[in-house]
Amino acid sequence: MSFPKDFLWGGATAANQYEGGYNLGGKGIAIADTITGGDGINNIPRFMTLKLADGTKTKIHRGFDTEVPKGAAAYVDSNYYYPSHVATDFYHRWKEDIHLLSEMGYKAFRLSINWTRIFPNGDDLVPNEEGLQFYDDIFDECIKYGIEPIVTLNHFDCPLNLATKYDGWSSRQTVHFFIKYVETVFKRYKGKVKYWMTFNEINFLRDYAMLGITEAISNPQKLAQAIYHVLLASAKAVKLGHEVDSENKVGMMIAYMLSYPQTCNPDDVLADIEFSKDLRDFYLDVQCRGYYPSYKLKEFERQGIELEKLPGDHQDLLDGVVDYIGFSYYNSLITSSNDFGEEAGGNQMGGLKNPYLVETEWGWPIDPIGLRIALNRLWNQYQKPLMIVENGLGAKDEISEDGKIYDDYRIDYLEKHIIEMEKAINIDGVNLIGYMPWGCIDLVSAGTGEMRKRYGFVYVDMDDSGNGSLNRIPKKSFYWYKEVIKTNGEILKGK
Ligand code: BG6
Repeated sequence: MSFPKDFLWGGATAANQYEGGYNLGGKGIAIADTITGGDGINNIPRFMTLKLADGTKTKIHRGFDTEVPKGAAAYVDSNYYYPSHVATDFYHRWKEDIHLLSEMGYKAFRLSINWTRIFPNGDDLVPNEEGLQFYDDIFDECIKYGIEPIVTLNHFDCPLNLATKYDGWSSRQTVHFFIKYVETVFKRYKGKVKYWMTFNEINFLRDYAMLGITEAISNPQKLAQAIYHVLLASAKAVKLGHEVDSENKVGMMIAYMLSYPQTCNPDDVLADIEFSKDLRDFYLDVQCRGYYPSYKLKEFERQGIELEKLPGDHQDLLDGVVDYIGFSYYNSLITSSNDFGEEAGGNQMGGLKNPYLVETEWGWPIDPIGLRIALNRLWNQYQKPLMIVENGLGAKDEISEDGKIYDDYRIDYLEKHIIEMEKAINIDGVNLIGYMPWGCIDLVSAGTGEMRKRYGFVYVDMDDSGNGSLNRIPKKSFYWYKEVIKTNGEILKGK
């Protein structure tokens, strides 16, 4: 068991699930601040609270198949609980949290910048100095402990004002405002931050689109244009990152939807190829090769979609090829040509049940070998350094009578995945540079808005309705991960 000597062991978070302080320090309102809590086990979805054009209040599911009605605007309603408002309070506890990460021996820490902390309305002429200073202090604190900050520029984030005034990513102006924000943070944190990632899980743009713009789902032309704008914004950000500092490494972030065909029936295999192109490969191809693949252009031809482009876009996409691939991996899923079979859950979406795998309490299939498969495929296909920027087990943790949390199930999940990572590096020759397990300090679930679905090495005292002291308690996995990092994985030898 051996890992490269400069391997980036760390953990990952996202501002809208972790930071809180949603209206403090000059921060503006983001779409995420208008999304309520939900309940994954009892199938109660998260909602976005909306006001229709005539002022009527309503709410819609936050999901892929619902869309913001024309003329409606999201808003914050005091009658609802919105998990992003306090989240798990990194805003006030960042010093304590970074200290805990340093105790575990972290080499890297993935976090995202809240766009509305820097440009509260998205289209402001000048940035908010208090917001800029907030992240300056955080990066300084990380550097003090030798922790490399790994920064996501956009993690499921859009200023509410850009959604209401410009219809979000359907407008080319949003690309302009995004790049202004990106330029501001690249310049401000030059020399402090080297590793950047553009859009979190960029292959779930349908979600971004739904969050930011109206009538995207029923209008394929509008959706395709919005996706084009996000991909273009990402490429422009990569290019700019290199111009501002040649030391910058700017990567992409994708949910690696590892899928297996249900059977060896060629119809199932073909269905799996279609699924993979649509929900995964298209985004990798554009960001790793710098142009739209032929299968996407054919699809546009069939659907009569024509993208509006400007001269220079083509070159921007080519120049914006990413330096590395960051990806999330939680589970694999099964696709089929007939969808016949029992359903399973999964990150962002589920497939059919896999009889060879066990599932988490939330029904996500656990597949450590799948991680090795994903690493092999990504490396062989694109030959770019890989970073696992999310992986982990969402589970309910109980505090035992002695005040401790014995999360052996989490250790077991992570251990099995790390063992497969090591095989990918040393047997398969994959260039894997880092591992950031998700929600290293407990945070709110993105999918369900719950607090009880925990991923962290550190427990945060908070419940699904936002009650609790927010105090931090290291779990058993905290001490285990500390040993993994200290021994550079050697502790897992022979497992
Ligand atoms: C990824 C997201 O989809 O999975 C995270 O990038 C999210 O924001 C994570 O929290 C786990 O999903 P969930 O729904 O369990 O929070």
